[in-house]
Amino acid sequence: MSCGRLHVKIKRVCARKRSRDVFKTHLNSVRKQGRGGGREAGSTPCLPSRRSSSTMAEHRAVEDCSDSEDLFGDYDSILGDTSILAKLEEAEQHERLRSENLQSFRTQQLTADPMPQSPKGPLIDSVFHELEDKAFDDLPTSQLQFQEQIQDQAKKSKPQVQSKTSTPSHTEAAVETNFEDGSRKHSKARRSVADLLKKTMLGNAATPVGVSRTALLKEAVVSEEISVAMQAMENISAETPDLGPFFGLPSKVKELMHKLRGIQKLYDWQEACLNLECVQQRRNLIYSLPTSGGKTLVAEILILRELLCRRKDCLFILPYISLVQEKVRGLATFGLELDFMVEEYAGSKGKFPPVKRRNKRSLYIATIEKAHSLVNSLIESSRLNHLGLLVVDELHMLGDGSRGAVIEMTLAKVQYMSKATQIIGMSATLGNIQDLQTFLGAENYTNDFRPVQLKEHVKLNDTIYEVDLKEENCFRFSRMLNYKYSSSMQKIDPDHIIALVTEVIPLHSCLVFCPTKKNCENVAGMICKYLKEDFLQHREAEKAVLLQELKASGNGSMCPVLRRTVPYGVAYHHSGLTAEERKLVEEAYSRGVLCLLACTSTLAAGINLPARRVILRSPYVAMDFLKRSQYKQMVGRAGRAGIDTIGESILILQEKDRSMAKELVCAPMESCYSNLMQDDGKGILSLILSLIGLNISSSLQQVEQFLRGTLLFVQQQQLCVERSLWDTVQRCVATLREKELITITGTHSPSLQVTRLGRAAYKGSVDLSYCSVLYKDLLKGLEGLQLSSHLHLVYLVTPYNLVPQCNPDWMVYFRQFTLLSASEQKMSAAAGVPESFVAQKAAGQTVNKSVDLVAVKRMYLALVLFSLLRDTDVWAVADRFQLTRGFVQTLLSSASAFCCCVLHFTEELEELWPFKALLLELSRCLSYCVKAELIPLMEVTGVLEFRAKQLYNAGYRTLSHLANADPAVLCRTLEHLYQKQANLMVASAKMLLNEKAAALQEEVDELLTLPADLPAQQH
Ligand SMILES: Nc1ncnc2c1ncn2[C@@H]1O[C@H](COP(=O)(O)OP(=O)(O)OP(=O)(O)O)[C@@H](O)[C@H]1O
Ligand SMILES: [Mg+2]
Repeated sequence: MSCGRLHVKIKRVCARKRSRDVFKTHLNSVRKQGRGGGREAGSTPCLPSRRSSSTMAEHRAVEDCSDSEDLFGDYDSILGDTSILAKLEEAEQHERLRSENLQSFRTQQLTADPMPQSPKGPLIDSVFHELEDKAFDDLPTSQLQFQEQIQDQAKKSKPQVQSKTSTPSHTEAAVETNFEDGSRKHSKARRSVADLLKKTMLGNAATPVGVSRTALLKEAVVSEEISVAMQAMENISAETPDLGPFFGLPSKVKELMHKLRGIQKLYDWQEACLNLECVQQRRNLIYSLPTSGGKTLVAEILILRELLCRRKDCLFILPYISLVQEKVRGLATFGLELDFMVEEYAGSKGKFPPVKRRNKRSLYIATIEKAHSLVNSLIESSRLNHLGLLVVDELHMLGDGSRGAVIEMTLAKVQYMSKATQIIGMSATLGNIQDLQTFLGAENYTNDFRPVQLKEHVKLNDTIYEVDLKEENCFRFSRMLNYKYSSSMQKIDPDHIIALVTEVIPLHSCLVFCPTKKNCENVAGMICKYLKEDFLQHREAEKAVLLQELKASGNGSMCPVLRRTVPYGVAYHHSGLTAEERKLVEEAYSRGVLCLLACTSTLAAGINLPARRVILRSPYVAMDFLKRSQYKQMVGRAGRAGIDTIGESILILQEKDRSMAKELVCAPMESCYSNLMQDDGKGILSLILSLIGLNISSSLQQVEQFLRGTLLFVQQQQLCVERSLWDTVQRCVATLREKELITITGTHSPSLQVTRLGRAAYKGSVDLSYCSVLYKDLLKGLEGLQLSSHLHLVYLVTPYNLVPQCNPDWMVYFRQFTLLSASEQKMSAAAGVPESFVAQKAAGQTVNKSVDLVAVKRMYLALVLFSLLRDTDVWAVADRFQLTRGFVQTLLSSASAFCCCVLHFTEELEELWPFKALLLELSRCLSYCVKAELIPLMEVTGVLEFRAKQLYNAGYRTLSHLANADPAVLCRTLEHLYQKQANLMVASAKMLLNEKAAALQEEVDELLTLPADLPAQQH
């Protein structure tokens, strides 16, 4: 017995060694398959691992593992160790021999002494005694079964003193069967042995009752050894990835990549990047490749490795809600298949701090702002060390105004507070990688691979030039544009957009980037005006379906431009569309039903919608000349991997823009700079406030120390920051004190603390410039809180930042005002918006009385939101208030996000307690803004109102209905639902259901767990 236990101990020790060997093996397996373990074209400052000399046998040892074996085993890493297995086999062999001896001894006994005096001979007695005295649990399966049988028989034999020990033939047969069985299991399923080992150790740790003192002592020693070994094992599994055949992952991941993404083989660069030594050693990494280079896949593999092998949570930061939702949907099936949670942190979704999960790891997919709040909440609850990996997509966003500042704060905090958290950043458009490397202490991988070649062109008058950096003036003549325009057509389309697009559509797809929203609509309309009738027939039926869907999504209303353009396969796409319209247009374009989108630059960085040809209508976004990174993002949409063999872009130029355009297409990528000091240091102020609030820094020196780890510090000289860091810290701290957000105590070594208002501000991520106004408004609101309708609450959460964009139509304002109840009007007057003022404005009179215009405009926006909550119809409300539906939609989503902020703000301020419960409910209403019955369905990522209605009417009324639905049946039941959409929808619903159920389970477990600090219970 002790032999078995000894082995357990040895195995644990061996585990570490084995893991490393497998690690090496894995690195090499890729090269052996000849898939690009070698160097890539382009610079690779961080060279691939040189550890390449492991043997084929080792390689096979990894590949031989079945899927289930590869996964999850804290124990699996020891299973590939042939020495351990050999020892295990040796132990089994030993036991087998011993049992055979025992059997033959019994047989001999029976044969030699047909009428024995005692049922058990002295030897048998001692053997039985030994067997009974010690735990069998730590033996291999075969032995265990055998021992149990022997014990059973021993028990049976005791009362029957006269009978013989057992029937030899029967026992032998049983033994044989068991051995056969056992060895079969052993050879087939190493995993089960691993499980057994685990069970064994746990079993061993429990002291058997009624055993001898010596045995007890022995048990104690062995248990101690085992617990040490287990501890070591846990440490090993925490440090060392549990490896499998697909970049350390089980082959199931590879299958899923194929099944769900259609990816059969990684690009050479992807393999090389995953094999980099710095990646293997989990050092921080920035990798930079052209658009469509396939960057996401590498990040996803690293995320899966962290989740499955290191059993740590991951955070994936994406810049837009739409991207977060797309990713959540795309990864939900991976989560279900591989047993981890995918949690959405976007808009109003996401819990702070996140739900603790004992048994499953979580992948948080978050927008920039939500990721920052998430990291803050993890720091506050001392759980940041659970975060194994943080991935930032589009890392160049660091240079993007206030959002860039938020990314910088998030990264700096993670780096400062959790050294073990690995940071990976990726981008297509990074100019100053060196700065970012210094900031993140990261290595860099760069490659210029693009699966589909991109040919960039510019058009000047009738000539197309190819962009060629080798040419002296960057442009090389390519061809003359071939077109025949009538004079009226020439007038309407002087840039020959129609000629350019008709070279590719309808067979290929085309994106036309336009400088303004209005221009998108005009261009789409203009193109259709001159398209031939033939275009109408191309995928006619599908276009008719799209039109129906657009109409249904607008409750019968439909955009006249889309109604005209969709039959030609053309649409526009910008933020003026409702979320539903945008989704329908995007899906139709992806499927080729629409062949052309006239869009604004937001599409370039948003959802992945590539095209055969990309046309830039002009080198401007609104009035501003394009930035190099914007240009690159736009032209980067050209060329669809797996569909097109080539991608081409054409930038339409006027003569006056020629020289600037040369800069645009030829200059090196723009650098990105820290934004912490932008807007009067808004970023750095809020960073310092949260540092103090989170107890990261409580003195000026500590604040300065932290700031040394920011991008701002790295770029201090380039940014020409006049003051020294120390001065900056002092000034910021003084400003925060002036704003009563912090207090300073002590003079010699002043200590910094946040005030209650300060805490509320950083907890609610409320802009410091209006946090005191918000506080005052809320306090004032409490004095006469009007709860007969939503209006007062809605007013209190109407975002301040949209107020400047609001120009009330006074007639509309007055009409809406008169429809309010007396108490609502009274509330409005109390908020500073008297009826008389609105009436006078509506009558066109000049008003002498001074009123707070911010309050007036804010109330107008509140009326819009109030109407929306009542009617739940964006179209009708936009019409009523003479606004675009896009603005109404933006107002709604901003209000919903701000409502969450205000909720967290009020949670920190006792005097605002009534808001806690009220805003929770309001936030839910604003997030969905649909009839209550549809909310459970719309909680599922990507299910919008139109689909929710369809589902509801088809009898799928709860989350559970949807999660348990058969996608094939859904496709048959719901109109215009495609199989892929149905699969994604059901997978997302399943994931959400799992998430909710697991959260409840965690709560139950928590409630039932005996508190560790329970005071001693004396009787
Ligand atoms: N190894 C591969 N084989 C085939 N297709 C792939 C492979 N890797 C990625 N892709 C596909 O290539 C397309 C572009 O990939 P991805 O979105 O990751 O590009 P990206 O580098 O992030 O580009 P961008 O900078 O534009 O965001 C995706 O549709 C993706 O599924
Ligand atoms: Mg990308």
